[in-house]
Order: sequence, then structure tokens, then C-alpha cells
Amino acid sequence: VKVDFSFLKDYYMFFVSGAKITVLLAVFSVFFGVALGVFFALLKLSSNKLLRGIAAAYIEFLRGTPMLVQLYIIYYGLPLIGINFPDIPAFGSSFPDFMAGVVCLSLNSGAYVAEIIRAGIQAVDKGQMEASRSLGFTYAMTMRYIIIPQAFRNILPALGNEFIVIIKESAIVSIIGIHDLMYNADTVRGNIFQPFEPLIVAAIMYFMMTFTLSKALGVVERRLKTSD
Ligand code: ARG
Repeated sequence: VKVDFSFLKDYYMFFVSGAKITVLLAVFSVFFGVALGVFFALLKLSSNKLLRGIAAAYIEFLRGTPMLVQLYIIYYGLPLIGINFPDIPAFGSSFPDFMAGVVCLSLNSGAYVAEIIRAGIQAVDKGQMEASRSLGFTYAMTMRYIIIPQAFRNILPALGNEFIVIIKESAIVSIIGIHDLMYNADTVRGNIFQPFEPLIVAAIMYFMMTFTLSKALGVVERRLKTSD
């Protein structure tokens, strides 16, 4: 068995620039995913049956189909019905692909985040609402000052987890030609005819990202506990 990492001195930039794209993908996707998640969680908690139905349909469909299929629908399907991702020259020629990737990851993540937020809010004991209302707080005040701060403790760690999931799942968008860490590792693999080492490097770099995040999350979680 011969393991040889000497290609790194010529190729390390592939991994660095790929990792940058992976981080960008994940950051944008989690950001928009959380926005969508808040929106659909509110719909799901609404007293209006139609709004609840819309949220349920969105959540069930995006969680119940493979993200790869969703990616293909967005990347290959949408342009056929006249929806194109804008080519913004300032962001480089690969921007439409990057945007398709972010849209897919955000839509998918939004469904999971919606459930995280809904469950986080519903996990707050309903006696909190009753007590607050009987003390004269309005529904909105109770939500703002009593329910949301407590729900936050359930939600934040789960959101951190979702970030980790998105970093890993983002590897799938390499398939539409986004030059992320996975894509670039594969390019190196093809270039140097070594199938093993470039993938090990990619794995280590993904792990460095997720492990750092999960450690940071542990710190946040302990803080939330002590402030209890
Ligand atoms: N890979 C799975 C899929 O294709 C899981 C997606 C998980 N997504 C998430 N945002 N937690 O459906």
C-alpha cells in the first residue's frame, strides 16, 4: 500500500477554495433556511386552517423527497418553465449554479427548521401562557417576553445541528458543477490518478468544519443551561 500526500503542495489551493465555497453555501443556506423556517413555523402555528395546510404541505413535501431530486428539479426543471437564475457578471460565471444550490439547500433546510421552531415553541409548558394571560399580558406580549425566550433554549442547539447537517449535505451540489470542497477534491482525484488521498483530505476538512461547530455549540448549550 502506498499513500502519498505530496500532491498537496501543488493542489492545496483546490481544497482551500473549495472549502470557502462550501462555507459560503452553508452560511447562505442556513440564513435563508432560518428565514423560511420562521415563516412556515408561524403558518403552522396559525389558527387559520388554510395557512396551516400550506405550511404542512411545504414541510411534508420537502422532508419527504430526496434533496437530490429537489436539486434536479430546481437546476434542470425550473429553467424549462421560464425560471432562470440571474447571471450577475460581478459574481462570476458560476453564480447561477451557486444560486440554484443555495435555493435548494435553503428550501430543504427551511422545512426542517420550521419543525425545529414549531416544536421549540410548543415545548414551552402551556401553563406559561395561561399564567401570563391571567396576569394581564396580551397574547403578543406573552409570546414576546415569556414564550419566545424559553423556546429559544430548545431551538438554538437544534439550529446549530442543522448548520452541521447543511455543511455535510452541501456536498450534493457538487453534482451541478458548483466548485465546492467535494467538487474540487474530485477534480484533484481525476488529475493525479489517486482516488484515495484527495478524498481523505476533503473528509478531514469537512470534519474540521463540523467538529468546530459542534464544539462551539456545546459551549452555547452549557451557557444556556447555567442561565436557567
Ligand atoms: N440527504 C437527505 C435528503 O436528501 C437529508 C436532508 C436533510 N436536510 C436537512 N436540512 N436537515 O433528503
